[in-house]
Amino acid sequence: MSNSVRALTVIAALLLVTSALVVGQDAGQMVGVAGVSGLAKVNPAANINAAGFPPPYWAYPANLPDYVAPPDTGAPQHVPNSNVGLTLTQIRDLFTPPDWHPEDHPPMPSIVGHGRKPQIWACGYCHLPVGWGKPENANVSNLPEAYFMQQVADFKNGSRRSTSYTTVPHTGMVASILPATPAEVKEAYDYFAKNKLPFQRYKVIETATVPKTKVQGSWVLAPAEGPGAGKEPIGQRIIEVPDHPATTTLRDWRSNFTTYVPPGSIKKGEALVTTGGNGRTVQCTVCHGQDLLGIGPVPPIAGRSAIYTFRQLYDFKDGTRHGAWSAMMKPVVEKLTLDDMIAIVAYTSSRLPSAGAKPASAEELKLSAASLR
Ligand code: HEC
Ligand code: HEC
Repeated sequence: MSNSVRALTVIAALLLVTSALVVGQDAGQMVGVAGVSGLAKVNPAANINAAGFPPPYWAYPANLPDYVAPPDTGAPQHVPNSNVGLTLTQIRDLFTPPDWHPEDHPPMPSIVGHGRKPQIWACGYCHLPVGWGKPENANVSNLPEAYFMQQVADFKNGSRRSTSYTTVPHTGMVASILPATPAEVKEAYDYFAKNKLPFQRYKVIETATVPKTKVQGSWVLAPAEGPGAGKEPIGQRIIEVPDHPATTTLRDWRSNFTTYVPPGSIKKGEALVTTGGNGRTVQCTVCHGQDLLGIGPVPPIAGRSAIYTFRQLYDFKDGTRHGAWSAMMKPVVEKLTLDDMIAIVAYTSSRLPSAGAKPASAEELKLSAASLR
């Protein structure tokens, strides 16, 4: 079968599965505050069949129990190339995300720019006003409509959870989406669909040593500063860090990331993604497209955060993400080892996120290299 015929067959199968499952969706709707309390732990005996498979700390948000946000001194904060000045209290307002560069996006509909009190935080808070997201959440721009809607349905009925489903921001996503009406979700979709990913946000660099890191805020890693700073071997990890931790904390979406991966990962990943590695997995390109930018309802996976992508593979594998369409990903992840998954996401993340996206600049690459010296 040619690739395109195979892709069409797959998509037809997908649509069949969906229409069969749509009916049952509301039955599983969860109740309770925030929608996550009271859920039994989904994977007590997760069949992650290899050593070294507890959920890697470097991929999942940390939620440090003793974290206290720095106090607001009232001083206006700024980010490069923006005239906007906002206090920390304004920046932390979950119902009005900081809009540093209004010229980067069309006007936000209310659900994206404000959410709906009391429970729906603005979609644009976590996903950023442009929808490109951050490593601890997800890109929501430029997704196929059917896929976007399916994910919303899966979050609502509890079939899309995360291996670390009790941590923020996953819990915030579930809490915010549960009361959202179909009209609100459609408005959010239509808006985010207009914001394409115009440049490479994640530079993937193979290296044997990485900057020592610490948890930034209560989320993901950033290079350690002061006495904890230095270098260490990368080992069997992906270390994804903001290039400008301070501006990333202020939620400036123009601030990019560097993804350090073990030497040899990209080539190994490419082989698995494009050939399936002799039955180790299923060729991703058949369903996600030659350029990994998606086919029909199958989502794009190129140029996304490597740790976001890794979490999804992990969550499919241990079954916490088992939405209506997830069965198609089951044979893909079943036999993968930790190393395979690291290699695969190193490769997918290194691809350009949209047709015509601008690759990272020489200065940005220099910045990433400099942090290794
Ligand atoms: C508290 C932060 C937060 C808020 C607010 C939030 N999300 Fe999310 N969203 C997330 C996180 C985290 C994920 C990834 C969840 C996971 O896989 O564990 C996500 C994933 C998604 C996805 C799936 C993307 C993909 O590629 O599969 C969609 C669609 C989405 N969100 C839509 C929305 C909409 C619409 C709203 C507003 C009603 C919203 N989100 C509000 C944090 C948030
Ligand atoms: C048979 C078709 C098929 C193949 C082959 C396939 N995928 Fe998928 N993939 C899908 C479908 C369908 C979904 C949506 C699943 C859902 O909604 O739960 C998906 C979802 C994903 C997601 C989640 C995207 C997001 O934004 O959260 C990732 C990551 C992913 N696939 C990676 C891969 C990789 C890597 C490979 C190859 C190693 C691969 N897929 C092979 C069909 C496929």
